[in-house]
Amino acid sequence: MISFDLRNLHTLPSAHGLSGEELENASSKILSFLKNIEQHDQGFYKVIDEEETLKEIESFVKQVEGKFDDIMILGIGGSALGTYCLLETLGSNGPLIHVLDNIDPAFIADEEAQLDLKRTLFLVISKSGKTIETRAQYSYFAKKIEESGLDHDEHFVFITGPDTELNPKFIIPENVGGRFSVLTAVGLLPAALMGLDIRALIKGAQTMRDSFLSEEFSTNLPFQLAAIQFLLSEKGKNQHVMMPYCQRLLAFTEWWRQLLAESIGKEGKGLTPIRALGATDQHSQNQLYNEGPNDKFLMILKIADLGIDLPTHLDDLTFTELLHTEMEGTVQSLTKNERPNITLNIERLDEETMGALFMLFEGITAFLGEFFEVNAFDQPGVELSKQITFQLLNS
Ligand code: PA5
Repeated sequence: MISFDLRNLHTLPSAHGLSGEELENASSKILSFLKNIEQHDQGFYKVIDEEETLKEIESFVKQVEGKFDDIMILGIGGSALGTYCLLETLGSNGPLIHVLDNIDPAFIADEEAQLDLKRTLFLVISKSGKTIETRAQYSYFAKKIEESGLDHDEHFVFITGPDTELNPKFIIPENVGGRFSVLTAVGLLPAALMGLDIRALIKGAQTMRDSFLSEEFSTNLPFQLAAIQFLLSEKGKNQHVMMPYCQRLLAFTEWWRQLLAESIGKEGKGLTPIRALGATDQHSQNQLYNEGPNDKFLMILKIADLGIDLPTHLDDLTFTELLHTEMEGTVQSLTKNERPNITLNIERLDEETMGALFMLFEGITAFLGEFFEVNAFDQPGVELSKQITFQLLNS
């Protein structure tokens, strides 16, 4: 389903690439890293076994079937990005989904203008239940529902951590952080409401979880990628670019960007995630990637089957062939310019693949926390800005 092509890393001079031996050397750490991760008692790779949650979600979806035309997600950061990503990559077969992950009043008004409140379900998603952006959005739309004479409880569903005052219908387990929560009800409920196959999402994640827990370097894809990212950072490659050749995966780069930045960027350490899109950015940032500072590592994502193909009418060339050829052009030019890059080969985008991709990058992040010796699961910088905002609002 997902495989890596590491050849370009191995062919570069050692200042910019990695030899098979360097990677093999790192492999001695797998066991101790897995033990440390277990000690963090994190649930992101365990929640995917909770059959009860799946049943509750499926039963809720049946209960509301046909009742709503629009689903509005009120949440931000890890409470919104996974759903946004699923929406953009796989689309909704059911109601229209709106992800309101900002408080710009013009954005709120634009989204609200599309709603018929009578036919709208609001999902209020917040692990802490305290995030001011989400609270403000909830308060705004609760007033609208009240003013329209509609029943509050029929239009609002809360997904929160166990200890909030919001009376959650679905609980986010205490040991699953916001940015790791896409495979809990946070992402699964919206996905099921979109008509996606959440069991296939979970299946893909479980398969990748087996890889994440493998003590063998050759079968542990998350460890391999984390090792590559860390070892290259030691060679000054601290800017990490994710560049899918697939429009629908642009949203995945946003989900990944938060996960990497918020998990590893601490104690003066970290990797700066940069999102790019092929072929569009070949005519933009590609110049910098090829000839700017050699401080970047590029992950190119290639999707073999884009779900549809179209003829260009330039000879027999199809758009998929053109896109893949352009990708090859980028990869070869980067390698020629001694820019470290790898290609992730993905067969197609479906629920199973997305589940596997989420778990792959969550696993990588957990291993990166170990390599960098930081706690990948807290976010003191984010909390500080939240606290200061509260203080300012109360002063
Ligand atoms: O990953 C995180 O912890 C954050 O990005 C949170 O998801 C974000 O700050 C929103 O927090 P909450 O879900 O508590 O509303």
